[in-house]
Amino acid sequence: MSDAVNALIEAQIGHEFGASQTYLSMAGWFEKESLGGFASWMREQSQEEIEHAMKFFDFLVDRGVAPKLPALPSPTNEFDGSLEVFEAAFAHEKKVTGQINAIYEAALEARDYQAQVLLQWFISEQLEEEKLTGGMVDRLRMVEGSRSALLILDAELGSRKHGEDD
Ligand code: FEO
Repeated sequence: MSDAVNALIEAQIGHEFGASQTYLSMAGWFEKESLGGFASWMREQSQEEIEHAMKFFDFLVDRGVAPKLPALPSPTNEFDGSLEVFEAAFAHEKKVTGQINAIYEAALEARDYQAQVLLQWFISEQLEEEKLTGGMVDRLRMVEGSRSALLILDAELGSRKHGEDD
């Protein structure tokens, strides 16, 4: 068991809870804009981030560690439009991918095979998260300026169920 890897995972628990708050703030912004489908998608994403945090938390607990949780930064609740929200989400997911990769590198260096297995799940998940948020950026660029197209997307996103990525 590597202390360095454990410390990085503790930090990542904070990043995942921080992501949950970020997505919840985005949900609040969409609610204010009367885009309930986007808001519901963001609420679901916020819940998924809690599940990610708990996967890391439980991993440390299984190793006999009582995780030290970091303080969370306050996310913004102000955006210029739906496209800006998803651009921020996409940029955020790319940052998380970098964080996960860095932990994986540390786990390789420490020959921490248990952590490597856990992190492989997250590496695949990040591919999905970037595809999803990046895809939404592309689609929102396509519909920019069309309120009717935005409402169609809103209806589509509102149909996301728990555990589904889109
Ligand atoms: Fe937990 Fe969106 O990555």
